[in-house]
Amino acid sequence: MTLSLDQLSRCTVAVDLGAARTRVYLKDTGLVVDEPSLAAVNTRTGSLIAVGSLAEGMAGRTPHHIKVVRPISGGTVVDIDMAQRMLRFLVGNKLRRAWRRKPMVRAAVCLPHDAEPIAQRAAMETLSALGTRRVELVDTLIAAAVGCGLPVEQPEATMIMVCGAASTQVAVLSLGAIVAAEKVQVGGDAIDYAVVQHLRSEHELMLPSQGLHPLHLALFDRSAGGMETEVRGRDVATGLSRTVLVNTAHVREAIQTPLTAVLDAIGRVLRDCPPDLVADLAERGVMLAGGSAMLPGLDTMIEEATGMVVRIAEHPDVCSVMGLGAMMEGKVRPMHLDPLMD
Ligand SMILES: Nc1ncnc2c1ncn2[C@@H]1O[C@H](COP(=O)(O)OP(=O)(O)OP(=O)(O)O)[C@@H](O)[C@H]1O
Ligand SMILES: [Mg+2]
Repeated sequence: MTLSLDQLSRCTVAVDLGAARTRVYLKDTGLVVDEPSLAAVNTRTGSLIAVGSLAEGMAGRTPHHIKVVRPISGGTVVDIDMAQRMLRFLVGNKLRRAWRRKPMVRAAVCLPHDAEPIAQRAAMETLSALGTRRVELVDTLIAAAVGCGLPVEQPEATMIMVCGAASTQVAVLSLGAIVAAEKVQVGGDAIDYAVVQHLRSEHELMLPSQGLHPLHLALFDRSAGGMETEVRGRDVATGLSRTVLVNTAHVREAIQTPLTAVLDAIGRVLRDCPPDLVADLAERGVMLAGGSAMLPGLDTMIEEATGMVVRIAEHPDVCSVMGLGAMMEGKVRPMHLDPLMD
């Protein structure tokens, strides 16, 4: 992966292909696309029917011949052709034509930490749908740290945790580079899945997707929810609408497995870190980025478990792409250390 600010400053477009959302940042313009990474396809003709939030609205409500698909899974493009078509539609003809007029469109894309070469290749191929001639690959952890405004270029430790939909990544950065990092394939979706499974097995209830947010509030934010919370869903056996009283302590237990994986990752990163940097972190704490950082009370839960100060980025969900944008526009200081002249 690249981290040459010189190369990045030649890029005009930055893309974050997330498992849940696709974001596109245009140099000197800002964020132009922030849409769900979804495409609705007619399986009879193969034609694309909708992308982004339109496709999201169709999910779970389609007739047999229409399928809503996710071309990106776990931070990796798994269906390049579909991802290209989705990206083309999300970006729209107008912007694409404007780029085509420029002879050499360069793009920057952020990829999960330690992305395999095959995942790197898939991201580069997906971006070629926009007519890009060259693609710079940047580690999401660095992009997100820059996007949160962390002083990554300083010789002191900063800790960033990117809580996405499909994965959670944690790193300690110093002097513009990653000192120690971990990635676990557990994110907001795994937490939601654990809640849905719990309600299904314990209460024989199927939860509509909008039903999760009130539960999030009750689960993490102890001040907001009491011991029991009312949940409305569909009975698994009869298919009829039903309301049940759910014990939030039991649901909290159900989400312990994904949460423990995340806390373990923090522990491993701290263990891999030199003691001087760990001492810095005791003061500076951890910065949370990624959409799942908005889970109410996740910060206090991490604070209680690690004893470190936890802060949430101002716009946690778009940190990575905004960080790429800042680097493209030269708003951050160079990260490489110039050799001393003697
Ligand atoms: N307000 C919110 N409260 C709780 N969870 C939220 C909120 N907003 C977003 N999320 C969760 O954040 C996740 C999406 O985060 P994000 O946009 O960072 O994912 P992504 O970048 O597409 O995924 P990844 O980085 O894993 O590929 C989803 O699991 C979603 O449920
Ligand atoms: Mg992401």
